[in-house]
Amino acid sequence: MDDKRAQWGSKLGFILAAAGSAVGLGNIWKFPGKAFEGGGGAFLLMYLLIVPLIGMPAMLSELAIGRASRANVVDAFGKLGHKGWRWAGWVGWAVAFIITCYYSHVGGWVLRYVFSYGFETSAVYADPLGYFYAVLGLDAASGATFFPWIVIVFALVFMAICAFVVIKGVKGGIERFNKIGMPALFVILLILFIRAATLPGAGDGLRYMLSLDWSKVTPQTFLIALSQAFYSLSLGMSIMVTYGSYVSEKEDIAKNSFLVCTTDTLVAVIAGFIVIPAVFATLGPDGVGKGGGFAFVSLAGVFENMPGGAVFGFLFYLLLLFAALTSTVSLIEGIVAFLIERMNWKRTPTTLVTCAVMFAIGCLYTCSQAAFPLKGVWFDFANGVAFPPLCDSMEFLTARVMIPLGALGCCLFTGWVWTPACAVAEAERCGKRFPLAKAYGFLIRFVAPASILVILAVSLFTGTTLS
Ligand code: PHE
Repeated sequence: MDDKRAQWGSKLGFILAAAGSAVGLGNIWKFPGKAFEGGGGAFLLMYLLIVPLIGMPAMLSELAIGRASRANVVDAFGKLGHKGWRWAGWVGWAVAFIITCYYSHVGGWVLRYVFSYGFETSAVYADPLGYFYAVLGLDAASGATFFPWIVIVFALVFMAICAFVVIKGVKGGIERFNKIGMPALFVILLILFIRAATLPGAGDGLRYMLSLDWSKVTPQTFLIALSQAFYSLSLGMSIMVTYGSYVSEKEDIAKNSFLVCTTDTLVAVIAGFIVIPAVFATLGPDGVGKGGGFAFVSLAGVFENMPGGAVFGFLFYLLLLFAALTSTVSLIEGIVAFLIERMNWKRTPTTLVTCAVMFAIGCLYTCSQAAFPLKGVWFDFANGVAFPPLCDSMEFLTARVMIPLGALGCCLFTGWVWTPACAVAEAERCGKRFPLAKAYGFLIRFVAPASILVILAVSLFTGTTLS
């Protein structure tokens, strides 16, 4: 079985694919707003400490589990001799499934906006919020709602592209796709950075992002930075275990974890240096926000007030599109790899069926934004049982509970059950010594699990979403 298992065609192929997974919507529309709220440079500094101290050890562990077991995320734990830990894999698999349902739909919204900026910027500019609501099936003026079929078709196209890439396989599909998508993403990022930095008034934003305003930093800020790091690095789900299982024994996974984490962080920081100065220059500091409303609504004001705004708006959503595509592909691969191996199913039908199911569930996500009052259910100790919109409860479930739980499972497993020594041995299989083995052992046993536990506890006891 093992020798038939797919492998990346090259070292660069793997790094680009893993970085493609990590670099996603989180980097581009969540990170800048969080950095702004968390005191600009102060948040950056904290984030730049969290990534090497917690993110990198966690990523190395996931890659090591994947490569040592050469199995999908659920069976990986069993193959390493600890069937009792398969729950961590199940959590990872399930969270990837739920996230794909909505991430792919948000990808569809992004694709919609690529067209909006390509063909109808004036309509977007005229009423950014009304336009966004209309995309999601609500006529804000009359209050009438309708089935948002246009954006649903865009989501279908988005999902179809991802499914096509996954069907083509690890080397012929995912690797090849990332080899085009990631360089394209970097080029666009660079163009946007130059545009933002040369806007009159951008200097204030740049200065803010470099200033250490500790007055805005609270313990909560630290937790926000921490959960942002997990989400941004695609940890706690099946992804890095699955991608790690396709890495050849000759590869230095410790170095690769470093490269992937660095790339992801670099993109987030550059996105921060694009978005914040651009908003400062056009709307002023009060214009900064985060999340979907910010990315689709507030940014319209930024592009409207910038020379060449329509072109840069188009490029910005194209950037988001590439980021979202390569991330969704990785999510689907994690889900499908398990089904193929466990059920002995074929890649093509498995991908088509799972993507169809996730797309259908995602329709409920999109429709519950504004068009229809679909409710989910939620419980936390601060607010008790509540019935928030379905879209919110899907996000709460993944961000507040499942991602931290999946990440905790991997860290505890590596730190205390499989042992850091085995992970280090796996890292050293390439023939090179891993010089940070001692520090790694300490971080993965104590620092990472303790921090994740705090995220989990704060989320559940205070009812806040930190990611
Ligand atoms: N890392 C991605 C982002 O920053 C999100 C993601 C998480 C993608 C997990 C795949 C798996 O947006």
